[in-house]
Amino acid sequence: MPNKRLEGRVAWVSGGASGMGEAVAELFAAEGACVVVADIQQERGQLLAARISANGGSAHFSYCDVTQDIQVRASIDDAASRFGGLEILVNCAGVVHVGPLHEYTETNWDALMSVNLKPIFFSLKHALPHFRLSRRSYIVNIGSVGSFVGQGLTPAYIASKHAVLGLSRSIALDYAAYGLRCNCICPGITDTPMLRYHLSTTADPAANLAARLRRVPMGVAMYPRDIARAALFLSCEDSSGITGTSLVVDGGYIAAAEWDTAAPTQFMKDPL
Ligand SMILES: NC(=O)c1ccc[n+]([C@@H]2O[C@H](COP(=O)([O-])OP(=O)(O)OC[C@H]3O[C@@H](n4cnc5c(N)ncnc54)[C@H](O)[C@@H]3O)[C@@H](O)[C@H]2O)c1
Repeated sequence: MPNKRLEGRVAWVSGGASGMGEAVAELFAAEGACVVVADIQQERGQLLAARISANGGSAHFSYCDVTQDIQVRASIDDAASRFGGLEILVNCAGVVHVGPLHEYTETNWDALMSVNLKPIFFSLKHALPHFRLSRRSYIVNIGSVGSFVGQGLTPAYIASKHAVLGLSRSIALDYAAYGLRCNCICPGITDTPMLRYHLSTTADPAANLAARLRRVPMGVAMYPRDIARAALFLSCEDSSGITGTSLVVDGGYIAAAEWDTAAPTQFMKDPL
């Protein structure tokens, strides 16, 4: 049996109660990490931590509104003292606001940026003193294919995701001296509650999803576990030497300027 890849590591996962964060928490715990699920969804987060523990893993739910610097600090410090250190941050918390920019209020704009962008700054600041006690540490930020291209009716979201990639690159440069590697995963269409919410704002969610997936060469939405596997790779020495970069997990979406998946693909016919 190969060693578990995160044995003895402590990971703090924001937005860990749902979607990609939930998949990250489960996979990291299965790989031996002690995981802190930091989220505002208390019931869901507690159930997840209990499920991980029941499966023999180590997890703790930490109520944390990532827009609040003081809560991020308390949650990170608690993670480090509870489990005896901290080596990994995965920043998954995110929200989307749908509508044309001229209909936004300043509050809409600020609310989105304060979840999608600012907590990366807060979490880096508060994790750094703990990271400095380890030879290696890792930050994985969740960007989006929208870190590279635009998308209709989500201007602040797209701006925030471009910024997440830029911030990830900058962190990688400034903290390499500390043994920290920082990378950004850029998911495409991924089947999570956020995607379902986004689709629900359209007239015909099923038709809207089908139309979006025709634009994806693999023809399928990503599963949260696809993103979790990429996060695992970037949170251990399997990715030694990789920092300040983006890992696109999108079924081929941004490889082409235009695409129309007319015939069923093997990924559609035979999901693994
Ligand atoms: N689903 C997609 O298609 C897709 C594509 C590209 C990028 N993303 C990004 O992936 C990340 C994860 O999203 P998801 O799709 O898993 O959505 P999700 O809604 O399932 O998960 C987001 C989590 O963030 C948490 N959260 C929101 N505000 C918070 C706050 N103030 N404090 C703490 N936690 C908070 C939510 O409670 C939720 O658990 C997000 O950054 C999102 O922008 C999603």
